[in-house]
Amino acid sequence: MTRVLYPGSFDPVHNGHLEMVETAANLFDEVVVAALINPSKGGGLFDLEERMALLDECFEHLPNVRTTMFDGLVVNLAAEVGADFIVKGLRAVSDFESELQMAQMNVEISGVQTLFLPTASRRSFLASRLIREVARLGGDVRDMVPDPVRRRLEDRIGFRGRIDG
Ligand code: PNS
Repeated sequence: MTRVLYPGSFDPVHNGHLEMVETAANLFDEVVVAALINPSKGGGLFDLEERMALLDECFEHLPNVRTTMFDGLVVNLAAEVGADFIVKGLRAVSDFESELQMAQMNVEISGVQTLFLPTASRRSFLASRLIREVARLGGDVRDMVPDPVRRRLEDRIGFRGRIDG
């Protein structure tokens, strides 16, 4: 049985993340999706509890996926949940530099290896930071996020999208 940990800041979770989790759920026996703090990111939209509640709703259709949240080192969480590997998505070469560095640091301090999955090219532009920015300024991000996130964005910042009602 192979259990993997898919960590991220998920502020908010978007369709690129959804694709990664669905792919990981097909490849591995169990996937733990975890909302963590990214110390290098500020200006968040949702707190950790809200992000995890959204993860719960977005992945409830996948029986071998569970969600959690954690404030600490990702490798400590990997040990706590008994993950064999950390899984990360790669959108572009630019992701690779920082992801490789984190993977190397994580293996150095814990021995836990990271596996990379490529994102489908049609979703490679998706980034939570841009989705927050576009939604805050009234742009239409409905096709980029799962339904529970769209509803929370509407509640939170009044985003209404192209179609009324
Ligand atoms: O979605 P993100 O922001 O790219 O996810 C990055 C995240 C949260 C996975 C990363 O910042 C992280 O692992 N944070 C936990 C703290 C930690 O372990 N830092 C050392 C990484 S080498």
